[in-house]
Amino acid sequence: MSTVEEIKKELKALNAEYAKIKTIAPEERKTFGIELNKKRQELEKRLKSAEEAAESENIEPIDITAPSAPNEKIPEIKQGSKHPLMTELSHVLDIYSRMGFNIMEARQLDDEFHMFESLNFPEGHPARDGYDTFRTREGFIPPAHTSTMQYRALTRYKSDLEAGGQIAVVIPGRVFRNEDVDATHEHTFYQCEGVFVSKDATMGQMLGVLKSLFETYYGQDLKIKTQPGYFPFTEPSLELLIEKPKSLGGKGDGWLEMLGCGMIHPNVLKTAGIDPDKYKGFAWGGGIDRLAMLKYGLTDVRYFESGKLEFLEEF
Ligand code: DAH
Repeated sequence: MSTVEEIKKELKALNAEYAKIKTIAPEERKTFGIELNKKRQELEKRLKSAEEAAESENIEPIDITAPSAPNEKIPEIKQGSKHPLMTELSHVLDIYSRMGFNIMEARQLDDEFHMFESLNFPEGHPARDGYDTFRTREGFIPPAHTSTMQYRALTRYKSDLEAGGQIAVVIPGRVFRNEDVDATHEHTFYQCEGVFVSKDATMGQMLGVLKSLFETYYGQDLKIKTQPGYFPFTEPSLELLIEKPKSLGGKGDGWLEMLGCGMIHPNVLKTAGIDPDKYKGFAWGGGIDRLAMLKYGLTDVRYFESGKLEFLEEF
C-alpha cells in the first residue's frame, strides 16, 4: 500500500494535469475533465484510508499493568490495600488447608431448598424465623448463613467418602440478615462453614479441630468450652466458646461465643444421599468478623462494611 506521502505526490501531479484543459480541443474537454475527476476521487479515497491506517499505527500500546498517574480528576493517587476481613479470612483458610480441608466458595444468592429444606427445616418450622432472611421479589434468598452450602459440599465430595476417604470441606461466604444494625450486629457479614464426614467422625475430633483453629489463629494456647445449642441441622447442637485471653484484653475470666456446631443431623446426610447408618459427620459455622474484632480489639462491627478509609488505612 502506498504511503500518505506518495499519494499526496500523485495528487499534486494530477492537479497539474488540470492546467492542460486549455490546450485540449473543446469537444474533448468534457471527457478529459470527467476522467481527471474520477482519478482525483480515487486518490482522495486512498489518501483517507492511508491516513487512517497511519494514525492507528501511531497509537502507543497501553500497558494495563502500569500504575496510574495522577491527573486532573484524581490529583492524588493512593495505594489501595486488601480489606482487613479478607486478610483475616486468608489466614483462617490457610490454617484449614494445612489441616487438609478442601475449600469451596459460597454464593451470594441462594434458594429455599439450600437455606432450609436441605438443612432439615421443614416448611413452617419455627426456627426458619430465627434467620431474618431477606428475599428477592423472584423468591431467591441471599444466604443468612454459610450452612446453605452444606448440601453442595456433601454431594460434591460424596465420591471421596465412597472411595474409603472422608469429606473435609470449609466454605467461606458473605451472609445477609434482615436485622437491626448496631455495634455487634450487621446486615452483611462473613462466615466460614466447616463440614467433615467419615465412617467414625466424633464430637471429640470436632473440638480438636476447632481448638487448634483458634489457637493457631491467635497464636497462643486457649481454653474452650461448649454449651448446648439448637440448630435443626445438627443433633446434638452446641455453641463453642473460647476464654478471652489476657493478650486480647481479657481478664482471664470472660467467655466468648465463637460459633455454632454439632453432629450433622441424619436427615441432612440422607437428603444428600449419604447413609447415616454408615457415616457420621460434624459441622460448624461462625463469623469471620467476630474473629477479627477480637484480634484487633474492635468494638464496632459496622466499621468493616462502612467503606471508611481512615479505618481501612489502619490495616
Ligand atoms: N449456621 C449457623 C448460624 O449461622 C451456625 C452453625 C451451627 C453452623 C451449627 C453449623 C452447625 O454448621 O453445625 O447460626
